[in-house]
Parts: sequence; C-alpha cells; structure tokens
Amino acid sequence: MKPFSFQLPTRVEFGPGCARRVGEEARGAGVTKALLVTDRGIVQAGLAAEVQEALRSAGVGVALYDGVQTNPTLAVVEEAFALYRAEGCDGLVAVGGGSSIDTAKLVGVLATNPPPLTQYEGANKIVHPIPPLVAIPTAAGTGAEVTFSALFNDPERNYKASVRSPKQAARVALLDPHMLSTIPPHVAAATGLDTLTHALEGYVSTGASPMSDLLGLEAIRLTAQWLPQFVANPRNTEAASHMQVACVYAAVCCSNARLGNVHAMAHPLGGHFNLHHGVACAILLPHVMDFNLIGAPEKFAAVAQAMGRDVRGLSLWEAAGEAPKAVRDLMRVLGMPMTLREVGVTADRIPAMARDAVASGIHTTNPRATDLDTLVNLYKAAM
Ligand SMILES: NC(=O)c1ccc[n+]([C@@H]2O[C@H](COP(=O)([O-])OP(=O)(O)OC[C@H]3O[C@@H](n4cnc5c(N)ncnc54)[C@H](O)[C@@H]3O)[C@@H](O)[C@H]2O)c1
Ligand SMILES: [Fe+2]
Repeated sequence: MKPFSFQLPTRVEFGPGCARRVGEEARGAGVTKALLVTDRGIVQAGLAAEVQEALRSAGVGVALYDGVQTNPTLAVVEEAFALYRAEGCDGLVAVGGGSSIDTAKLVGVLATNPPPLTQYEGANKIVHPIPPLVAIPTAAGTGAEVTFSALFNDPERNYKASVRSPKQAARVALLDPHMLSTIPPHVAAATGLDTLTHALEGYVSTGASPMSDLLGLEAIRLTAQWLPQFVANPRNTEAASHMQVACVYAAVCCSNARLGNVHAMAHPLGGHFNLHHGVACAILLPHVMDFNLIGAPEKFAAVAQAMGRDVRGLSLWEAAGEAPKAVRDLMRVLGMPMTLREVGVTADRIPAMARDAVASGIHTTNPRATDLDTLVNLYKAAM
C-alpha cells in the first residue's frame, strides 16, 4: 500500500432543522458580527432570512451580502470583502451553493492575508487561516462546505482560478436537508452530477488512498440511487439527506485524492463561457471516462457495479465499459444536455481552454497520462 495522508478540517453536523443552530455555532466560535454571504436566488427562496433571524436571536450581529453570482468573479469577492471591513465583521456565514461558500472563503482569505487574492492561486499559498466560517449548503453538489478549494472567475484573463488550502476550510458545515427543498430541479440535477464527478475522479485518481476510495465508491452508489428521486422532488427529505451525505463523501474524497481531466477541463468552460460548473462536469464526464478506462479498469468495473449494473459474467473490459454507459443513462434520465455545442460552447476557444486546463495542473492526477493534445481531443469529443 502506498503512503497516504487524509484530513477533514471541517466539523460536519447533519440533521433536519440544524441550520437554526447557526447562531450558537457562530457565537461559540467567538463571532460577534458575521457577514452573511449568499445570492439573490437564496434570498428569494427565504433561506437567508431564516439564517439571519437565527443569528440575531443568538445575539450575533449580521450584515448581508447577497451579490454572489454563479462562477463568482474577483470583483464580487472584493465587494463582499469591502462590506466585511466596513461593517466591522469578525466571522463569516455562507448560505448557498458553491458560489456563495467559495465567495465567503475568499473574503476570509482577504480578511487575514494581504491582497491581491491572485497570489494565493494554486496549492497551499495561504499563510494565515481565515476567520471562523459556518457553511450552510443549499445544494448537494460542490461540497464546498467541506473542501479546501475556492474558485473565482477573473474576466480579464477569461480564467477560472482555484485557491486550494485547508486554511480556508469552513469551521463547521451545517447539513440541513430542509435547506435543499427549494432548489430548482435543473440545478439539483447539475449539482448532483458534480458530486458524481468528484466521487468518480477522486476514486480513480492516482492520488487515491484506501480512505478516499471508501468515500468515493459509496458516494457513487448513493448518487446513482438517490439523485433521480431528489431531482423529481427536492422536498423529499430522505432523498435530499442521502444526496447531502453523498456530496460530503465525494468532496472529502476528492479533496484528499485530488481530481482529474473533467475538472481540469470544466474550469476553463466556466472561465470562457460562464457555463455552470455542474453542467460542464456532466457533459465532459462520460468522454473522460471512455478515455480513462484502460488506466483503471478494475475501478471502473466497481463503479459500474456501484451504479447498479449487473456485471456478472462480463469480462473486465466489458464490465469497465458499463461505467460510462451508466453515467450516460443517468444524464438522459435527468434530462441533461449531452454536448457542449448545445450549451453554447464554440470550438474556436478549444486551444485556449486546453492551455488553461494544463496550467491548472489538475490533470496530473488523472489515471491516464494526459497532455495538451489529449485535452484538445477530449473537448472536441464532447462538442
Ligand atoms: N469549492 C469547491 O470545492 C468547489 C467544487 C466544485 C465547484 N465549485 C464552484 O462552485 C460554483 C458552483 O456552485 P453550485 O453548483 O453549488 O451552484 P451556485 O452556488 O452557483 O448556485 C446555482 C444557482 O442555484 C440557486 N440555488 C442553489 N440552491 C438553492 C436552493 N436551495 N433554493 C433555491 N435556489 C437555489 C442559486 O441561487 C443559484 O442561482 C462554481 O463557481 C464552481 O466552480 C467549488
Ligand atoms: Fe466540481
């Protein structure tokens, strides 16, 4: 067995209604005034007001920043940080999907580390831990509530930058399935496929360990079983709960094992086309799996089984080949777009996106060796 290290810096609390404990959690972490970071969709769904109220009733002051957009930009982070300073905040609460949670992490980085933010791109560049952050996810997708990553779009470079360090992990994640009940079904589908991608890429990564494997395979099994029912009815608390747990398993898996070509290629689609991250991952995933099969055939055969395929009597190659078929079937059941062309991507940007993917270094743990040409061909295959 190869040596490995494994960490989960975030405490995880699960339970229907547990988001109401946000006030005690923030106060317990020494926060006197929190910046509540969210987006307008979350405010309109009534989720931010609930959290604001819970903070106030625990005696914690709160200032609201609701300007987050999907694929948050550097300007959004700077605007939220200006409010954090002006309001004299000493802690952060994020309510939302990955965009809100990442924005809160990055505000935290600026609160304790000198600007500019761009100097912290890449792995382990942050010097000082961020102020206490309580993360309340409203989607089961990115797992940003437990990962060490935060992403922002830099429109000047058409670049989706990633900052990776356990020093920006949330202090606590409050997993309350009721917070998922208002999610639009198409967002539930796209974010759920992001979870599947985290689990799959982490599971077959060259950085995988026995601990990340346990989490990855179970997240794949749970997602295949529960995502359709969650998309069908996000108020189904049982389905939402399983998806929340799957999301955390997958995120902890890939935070430790790292990712592969799907994420290397998905971030440039966010940078160049502002494509939703989950949609980008979903469209790329089966193509990258086709390419990766020979890199980890036993693992892909196990993925097929975890997704409910009967692989008895099949050869190893046949069993492995069932895995991308199972993913394509799941995408069809969920009504996902199957090609990049359908979502407005144009081929002229492929060379630049492939270069950005290489620059990210995320492809270096892909189970099959990958260079610039590989990435160009994979983008073309997904068009
Ligand atoms: N930090 C990480 O580890 C990590 C990992 C993967 C992706 N990301 C990043 O996260 C971002 C994407 O996050 P996301 O996919 O969670 O989507 P998101 O946060 O961008 O949210 C998408 C939309 O869904 C709406 N929404 C979410 N939950 C809702 C609810 N319960 N009720 C009503 N509306 C709801 C939001 O208002 C928003 O309009 C991207 O920037 C991506 O790059 C981060
Ligand atoms: Fe992702």
